[in-house]
Amino acid sequence: MDYRIADISLAEAGRHQIRLAEQEMPGLMALREEYGAEQPLKGARIAGSLHMTVQTAVLIETLTALGADVRWASCNIFSTQDEAAAAVVVGPEHSGGTPDDPRGVPVFAWKGETLEEYWWAADQIFRFPAGGPNLILDDGGDATMLVAKGASFEEAGGVPEPAEDDSAEYVEFLARLRASLAEDPGRFSRIAEGIIGVSEETTTGVNRLYQAHQRGELRFPAINVNDSVTKSKFDNRYGIRHSLPDGLNRATDVLIGGKIAVVIGYGDVGKGAAEALRGQGARVIVTEIDPICALQAAMDGYQVARIEDVVAEGDIFITTTGNTRVITVEHLLAMKRNAIVGNIGHFDDEIDLAGLERVPGVRKVEIKPQVHEWILPEAARREAGVEQAGESAIIVLSEGRLLNLGNATGHPSFVMSASFTNQVMAQIELYTKDYPIGVHLLPKQLDEKVARLHLDALGVRLTELTKEQAEYIGVDVAGPYKQEHYRY
Ligand code: NAI
Repeated sequence: MDYRIADISLAEAGRHQIRLAEQEMPGLMALREEYGAEQPLKGARIAGSLHMTVQTAVLIETLTALGADVRWASCNIFSTQDEAAAAVVVGPEHSGGTPDDPRGVPVFAWKGETLEEYWWAADQIFRFPAGGPNLILDDGGDATMLVAKGASFEEAGGVPEPAEDDSAEYVEFLARLRASLAEDPGRFSRIAEGIIGVSEETTTGVNRLYQAHQRGELRFPAINVNDSVTKSKFDNRYGIRHSLPDGLNRATDVLIGGKIAVVIGYGDVGKGAAEALRGQGARVIVTEIDPICALQAAMDGYQVARIEDVVAEGDIFITTTGNTRVITVEHLLAMKRNAIVGNIGHFDDEIDLAGLERVPGVRKVEIKPQVHEWILPEAARREAGVEQAGESAIIVLSEGRLLNLGNATGHPSFVMSASFTNQVMAQIELYTKDYPIGVHLLPKQLDEKVARLHLDALGVRLTELTKEQAEYIGVDVAGPYKQEHYRY
């Protein structure tokens, strides 16, 4: 079995955590029960790219329990939990795998990959020994992009040279494509042809899919898992409410109470972030570009301001937009000493650290892995127009990448159970039904089913509609209970 992880001897520690996580993931365990005998994913070869955590291990082993062949990489260089990766490679107890004779799933992921290693690992998930993959399970869209761009560069006759302003990430991506195409020139076109569909986990990846579809570049159908209600209204919000303070505490152990926290963006993730920080006693300021979300923040009781007006006051800055450069070099230079700056949006360009790195005299000191003090020299601050300049320093978490996964272990199992139950159902839908090219949502009945599977564990007693009531409001007793346009 081929795989590349940090240390296979961590498998036992990982297995203990997976065992406990299974008890907190009722949705996934119910799917194993419901579909284990039927094997709806038999013959499916799933190329997976999603944070290689303990919760993802339970997802992977649910996919294999339903009959799928799986290969896996993480979708972020810092998010792998090495013990989870090891346990997945060795395999569950019933596989009889051991560290010397692993029988689980090939994983290519470890905490602290370089960008070059990241794209190498992303490429490995497509290398099934028996034919190409037929499904992609993606988080953020990198695996889908590798196939789609790889195939279009092949068709255009080669991989372009990087442009001067391309990110380091994109430069490495192009290098990986060039290496792969040199090895086998028609490879990605063949892979693209074999793919039945992709299920996409997160807001940023879903945005990429809709954009690709608008440009007419989508090569296979996609299921938008993010916008299942039981995903984005739970994982993005309540997951963040848990894992943001976890990341801040493990990284810095700074008391949050009384501090001024600036949350950039008030979508689902921003709402969870602001609530968590307020819960810790921070005074939270929100910034938004969307009047609806700005009004929501105001009515939820937050001050809503522009970042340039509060940049010198904030103690903690958290970006949650999925947008680019929402904290600029000028903002960073104007921050007060030891301001903590972190991102929980999908990619690392929300905070312009690449720009800050180019400012003369700026230095980086590693406090510990994924926590850096950036020294900001007086001259640069003066030049940026900062009053009472002087040398300063800020604390940057996870080099501007998802801090809840880089500095902590991401969302807890229960909320990921809801997300991943949607993922498994999306994979079954794509594999067993004919979806046209386009970006699709899972049917509302399935969304309601995911919620239902998580009620018992919380002791929820759901009220049942009477036939009369169902007729009165115009729904079926068994659901769905809301119209498509309802927003929850
Ligand atoms: P969303 O679209 O609901 O919210 C983003 C908000 O940012 C929007 O309200 C938008 O108006 C606002 N925004 C955009 N540009 C802005 C700017 N320049 N200044 C201020 N506000 C701005 O998206 P959602 O679901 O909240 O996701 C946000 C990001 O978090 C995405 O990249 C998503 O992939 C990622 N994500 C991360 C998770 C994690 O575990 N760290 C979990 C789930 C999502």
